[in-house]
Amino acid sequence: MTANPVFVALDTPELAKARAVAVAVRDHVGGLKLGLEFFMAQGPAGVRALAEVGLPIFLDVKLHDIPNTVAGAMRSLSPLGLAIVNVHGAGGRAMMAAAREAMAPETKVIAVTVLTSLDAADLGDIGVAGAADAQVARLAELARAAGLDGIVCSAHEVAARRAAWADGLFVIPGIRPAGSDIGDQKRVMTPRQALDAGASVLVVGRPITAAADPAAAAAAPAASPR
Ligand code: C5P
Repeated sequence: MTANPVFVALDTPELAKARAVAVAVRDHVGGLKLGLEFFMAQGPAGVRALAEVGLPIFLDVKLHDIPNTVAGAMRSLSPLGLAIVNVHGAGGRAMMAAAREAMAPETKVIAVTVLTSLDAADLGDIGVAGAADAQVARLAELARAAGLDGIVCSAHEVAARRAAWADGLFVIPGIRPAGSDIGDQKRVMTPRQALDAGASVLVVGRPITAAADPAAAAAAPAASPR
């Protein structure tokens, strides 16, 4: 993907704030992750504005709808020149295949498997029996069969998923440089641990964005293991 695997998560609705952090860390990260908080406020114009910073962009919009609608959304996003975009694996094989087909070939399309906010009881409530791990494995396999490029998963799942998908793109949030505040993340890993387990891209938000000096935080060897 890129030489530096760290994508900084710019979780803000404000363009000026997102741009200021992006410019500050530009030389120390491999890309920018923009999520729904940013996209709902700033839309495609905001994505274009941040693309001017010159880094690859992962648009974390987790689409989930009927195949025709998701394909249309992908066609609308395609001209943005994204590096990575995602959909929910739970949308099913046809939806994932339609997403891949509608998006420009140079943009990686990956699947979210099971939201890490859901435990086994929550999954039971929505009719998914058994452990979360089994559902992650099932949806990862479905994503691969549908022609997607990889998945988003936790650092604790990546080794097993990588073993089953050698050339998959594995995007891993919940990364905390050694010794940093873990915030509301519960199961974290350091960048080195996650890469050793098979991660391709590391999503790091607050350890960089909430630091007094984001550039220094992004440049610290523990944050960008190269
Ligand atoms: O600030 P922090 O490093 O926790 O940010 C992580 C980013 O990754 C956030 O944008 C968050 O929404 C996203 N994410 C996550 N855990 C997941 C999936 C996505 O933290 N399981």
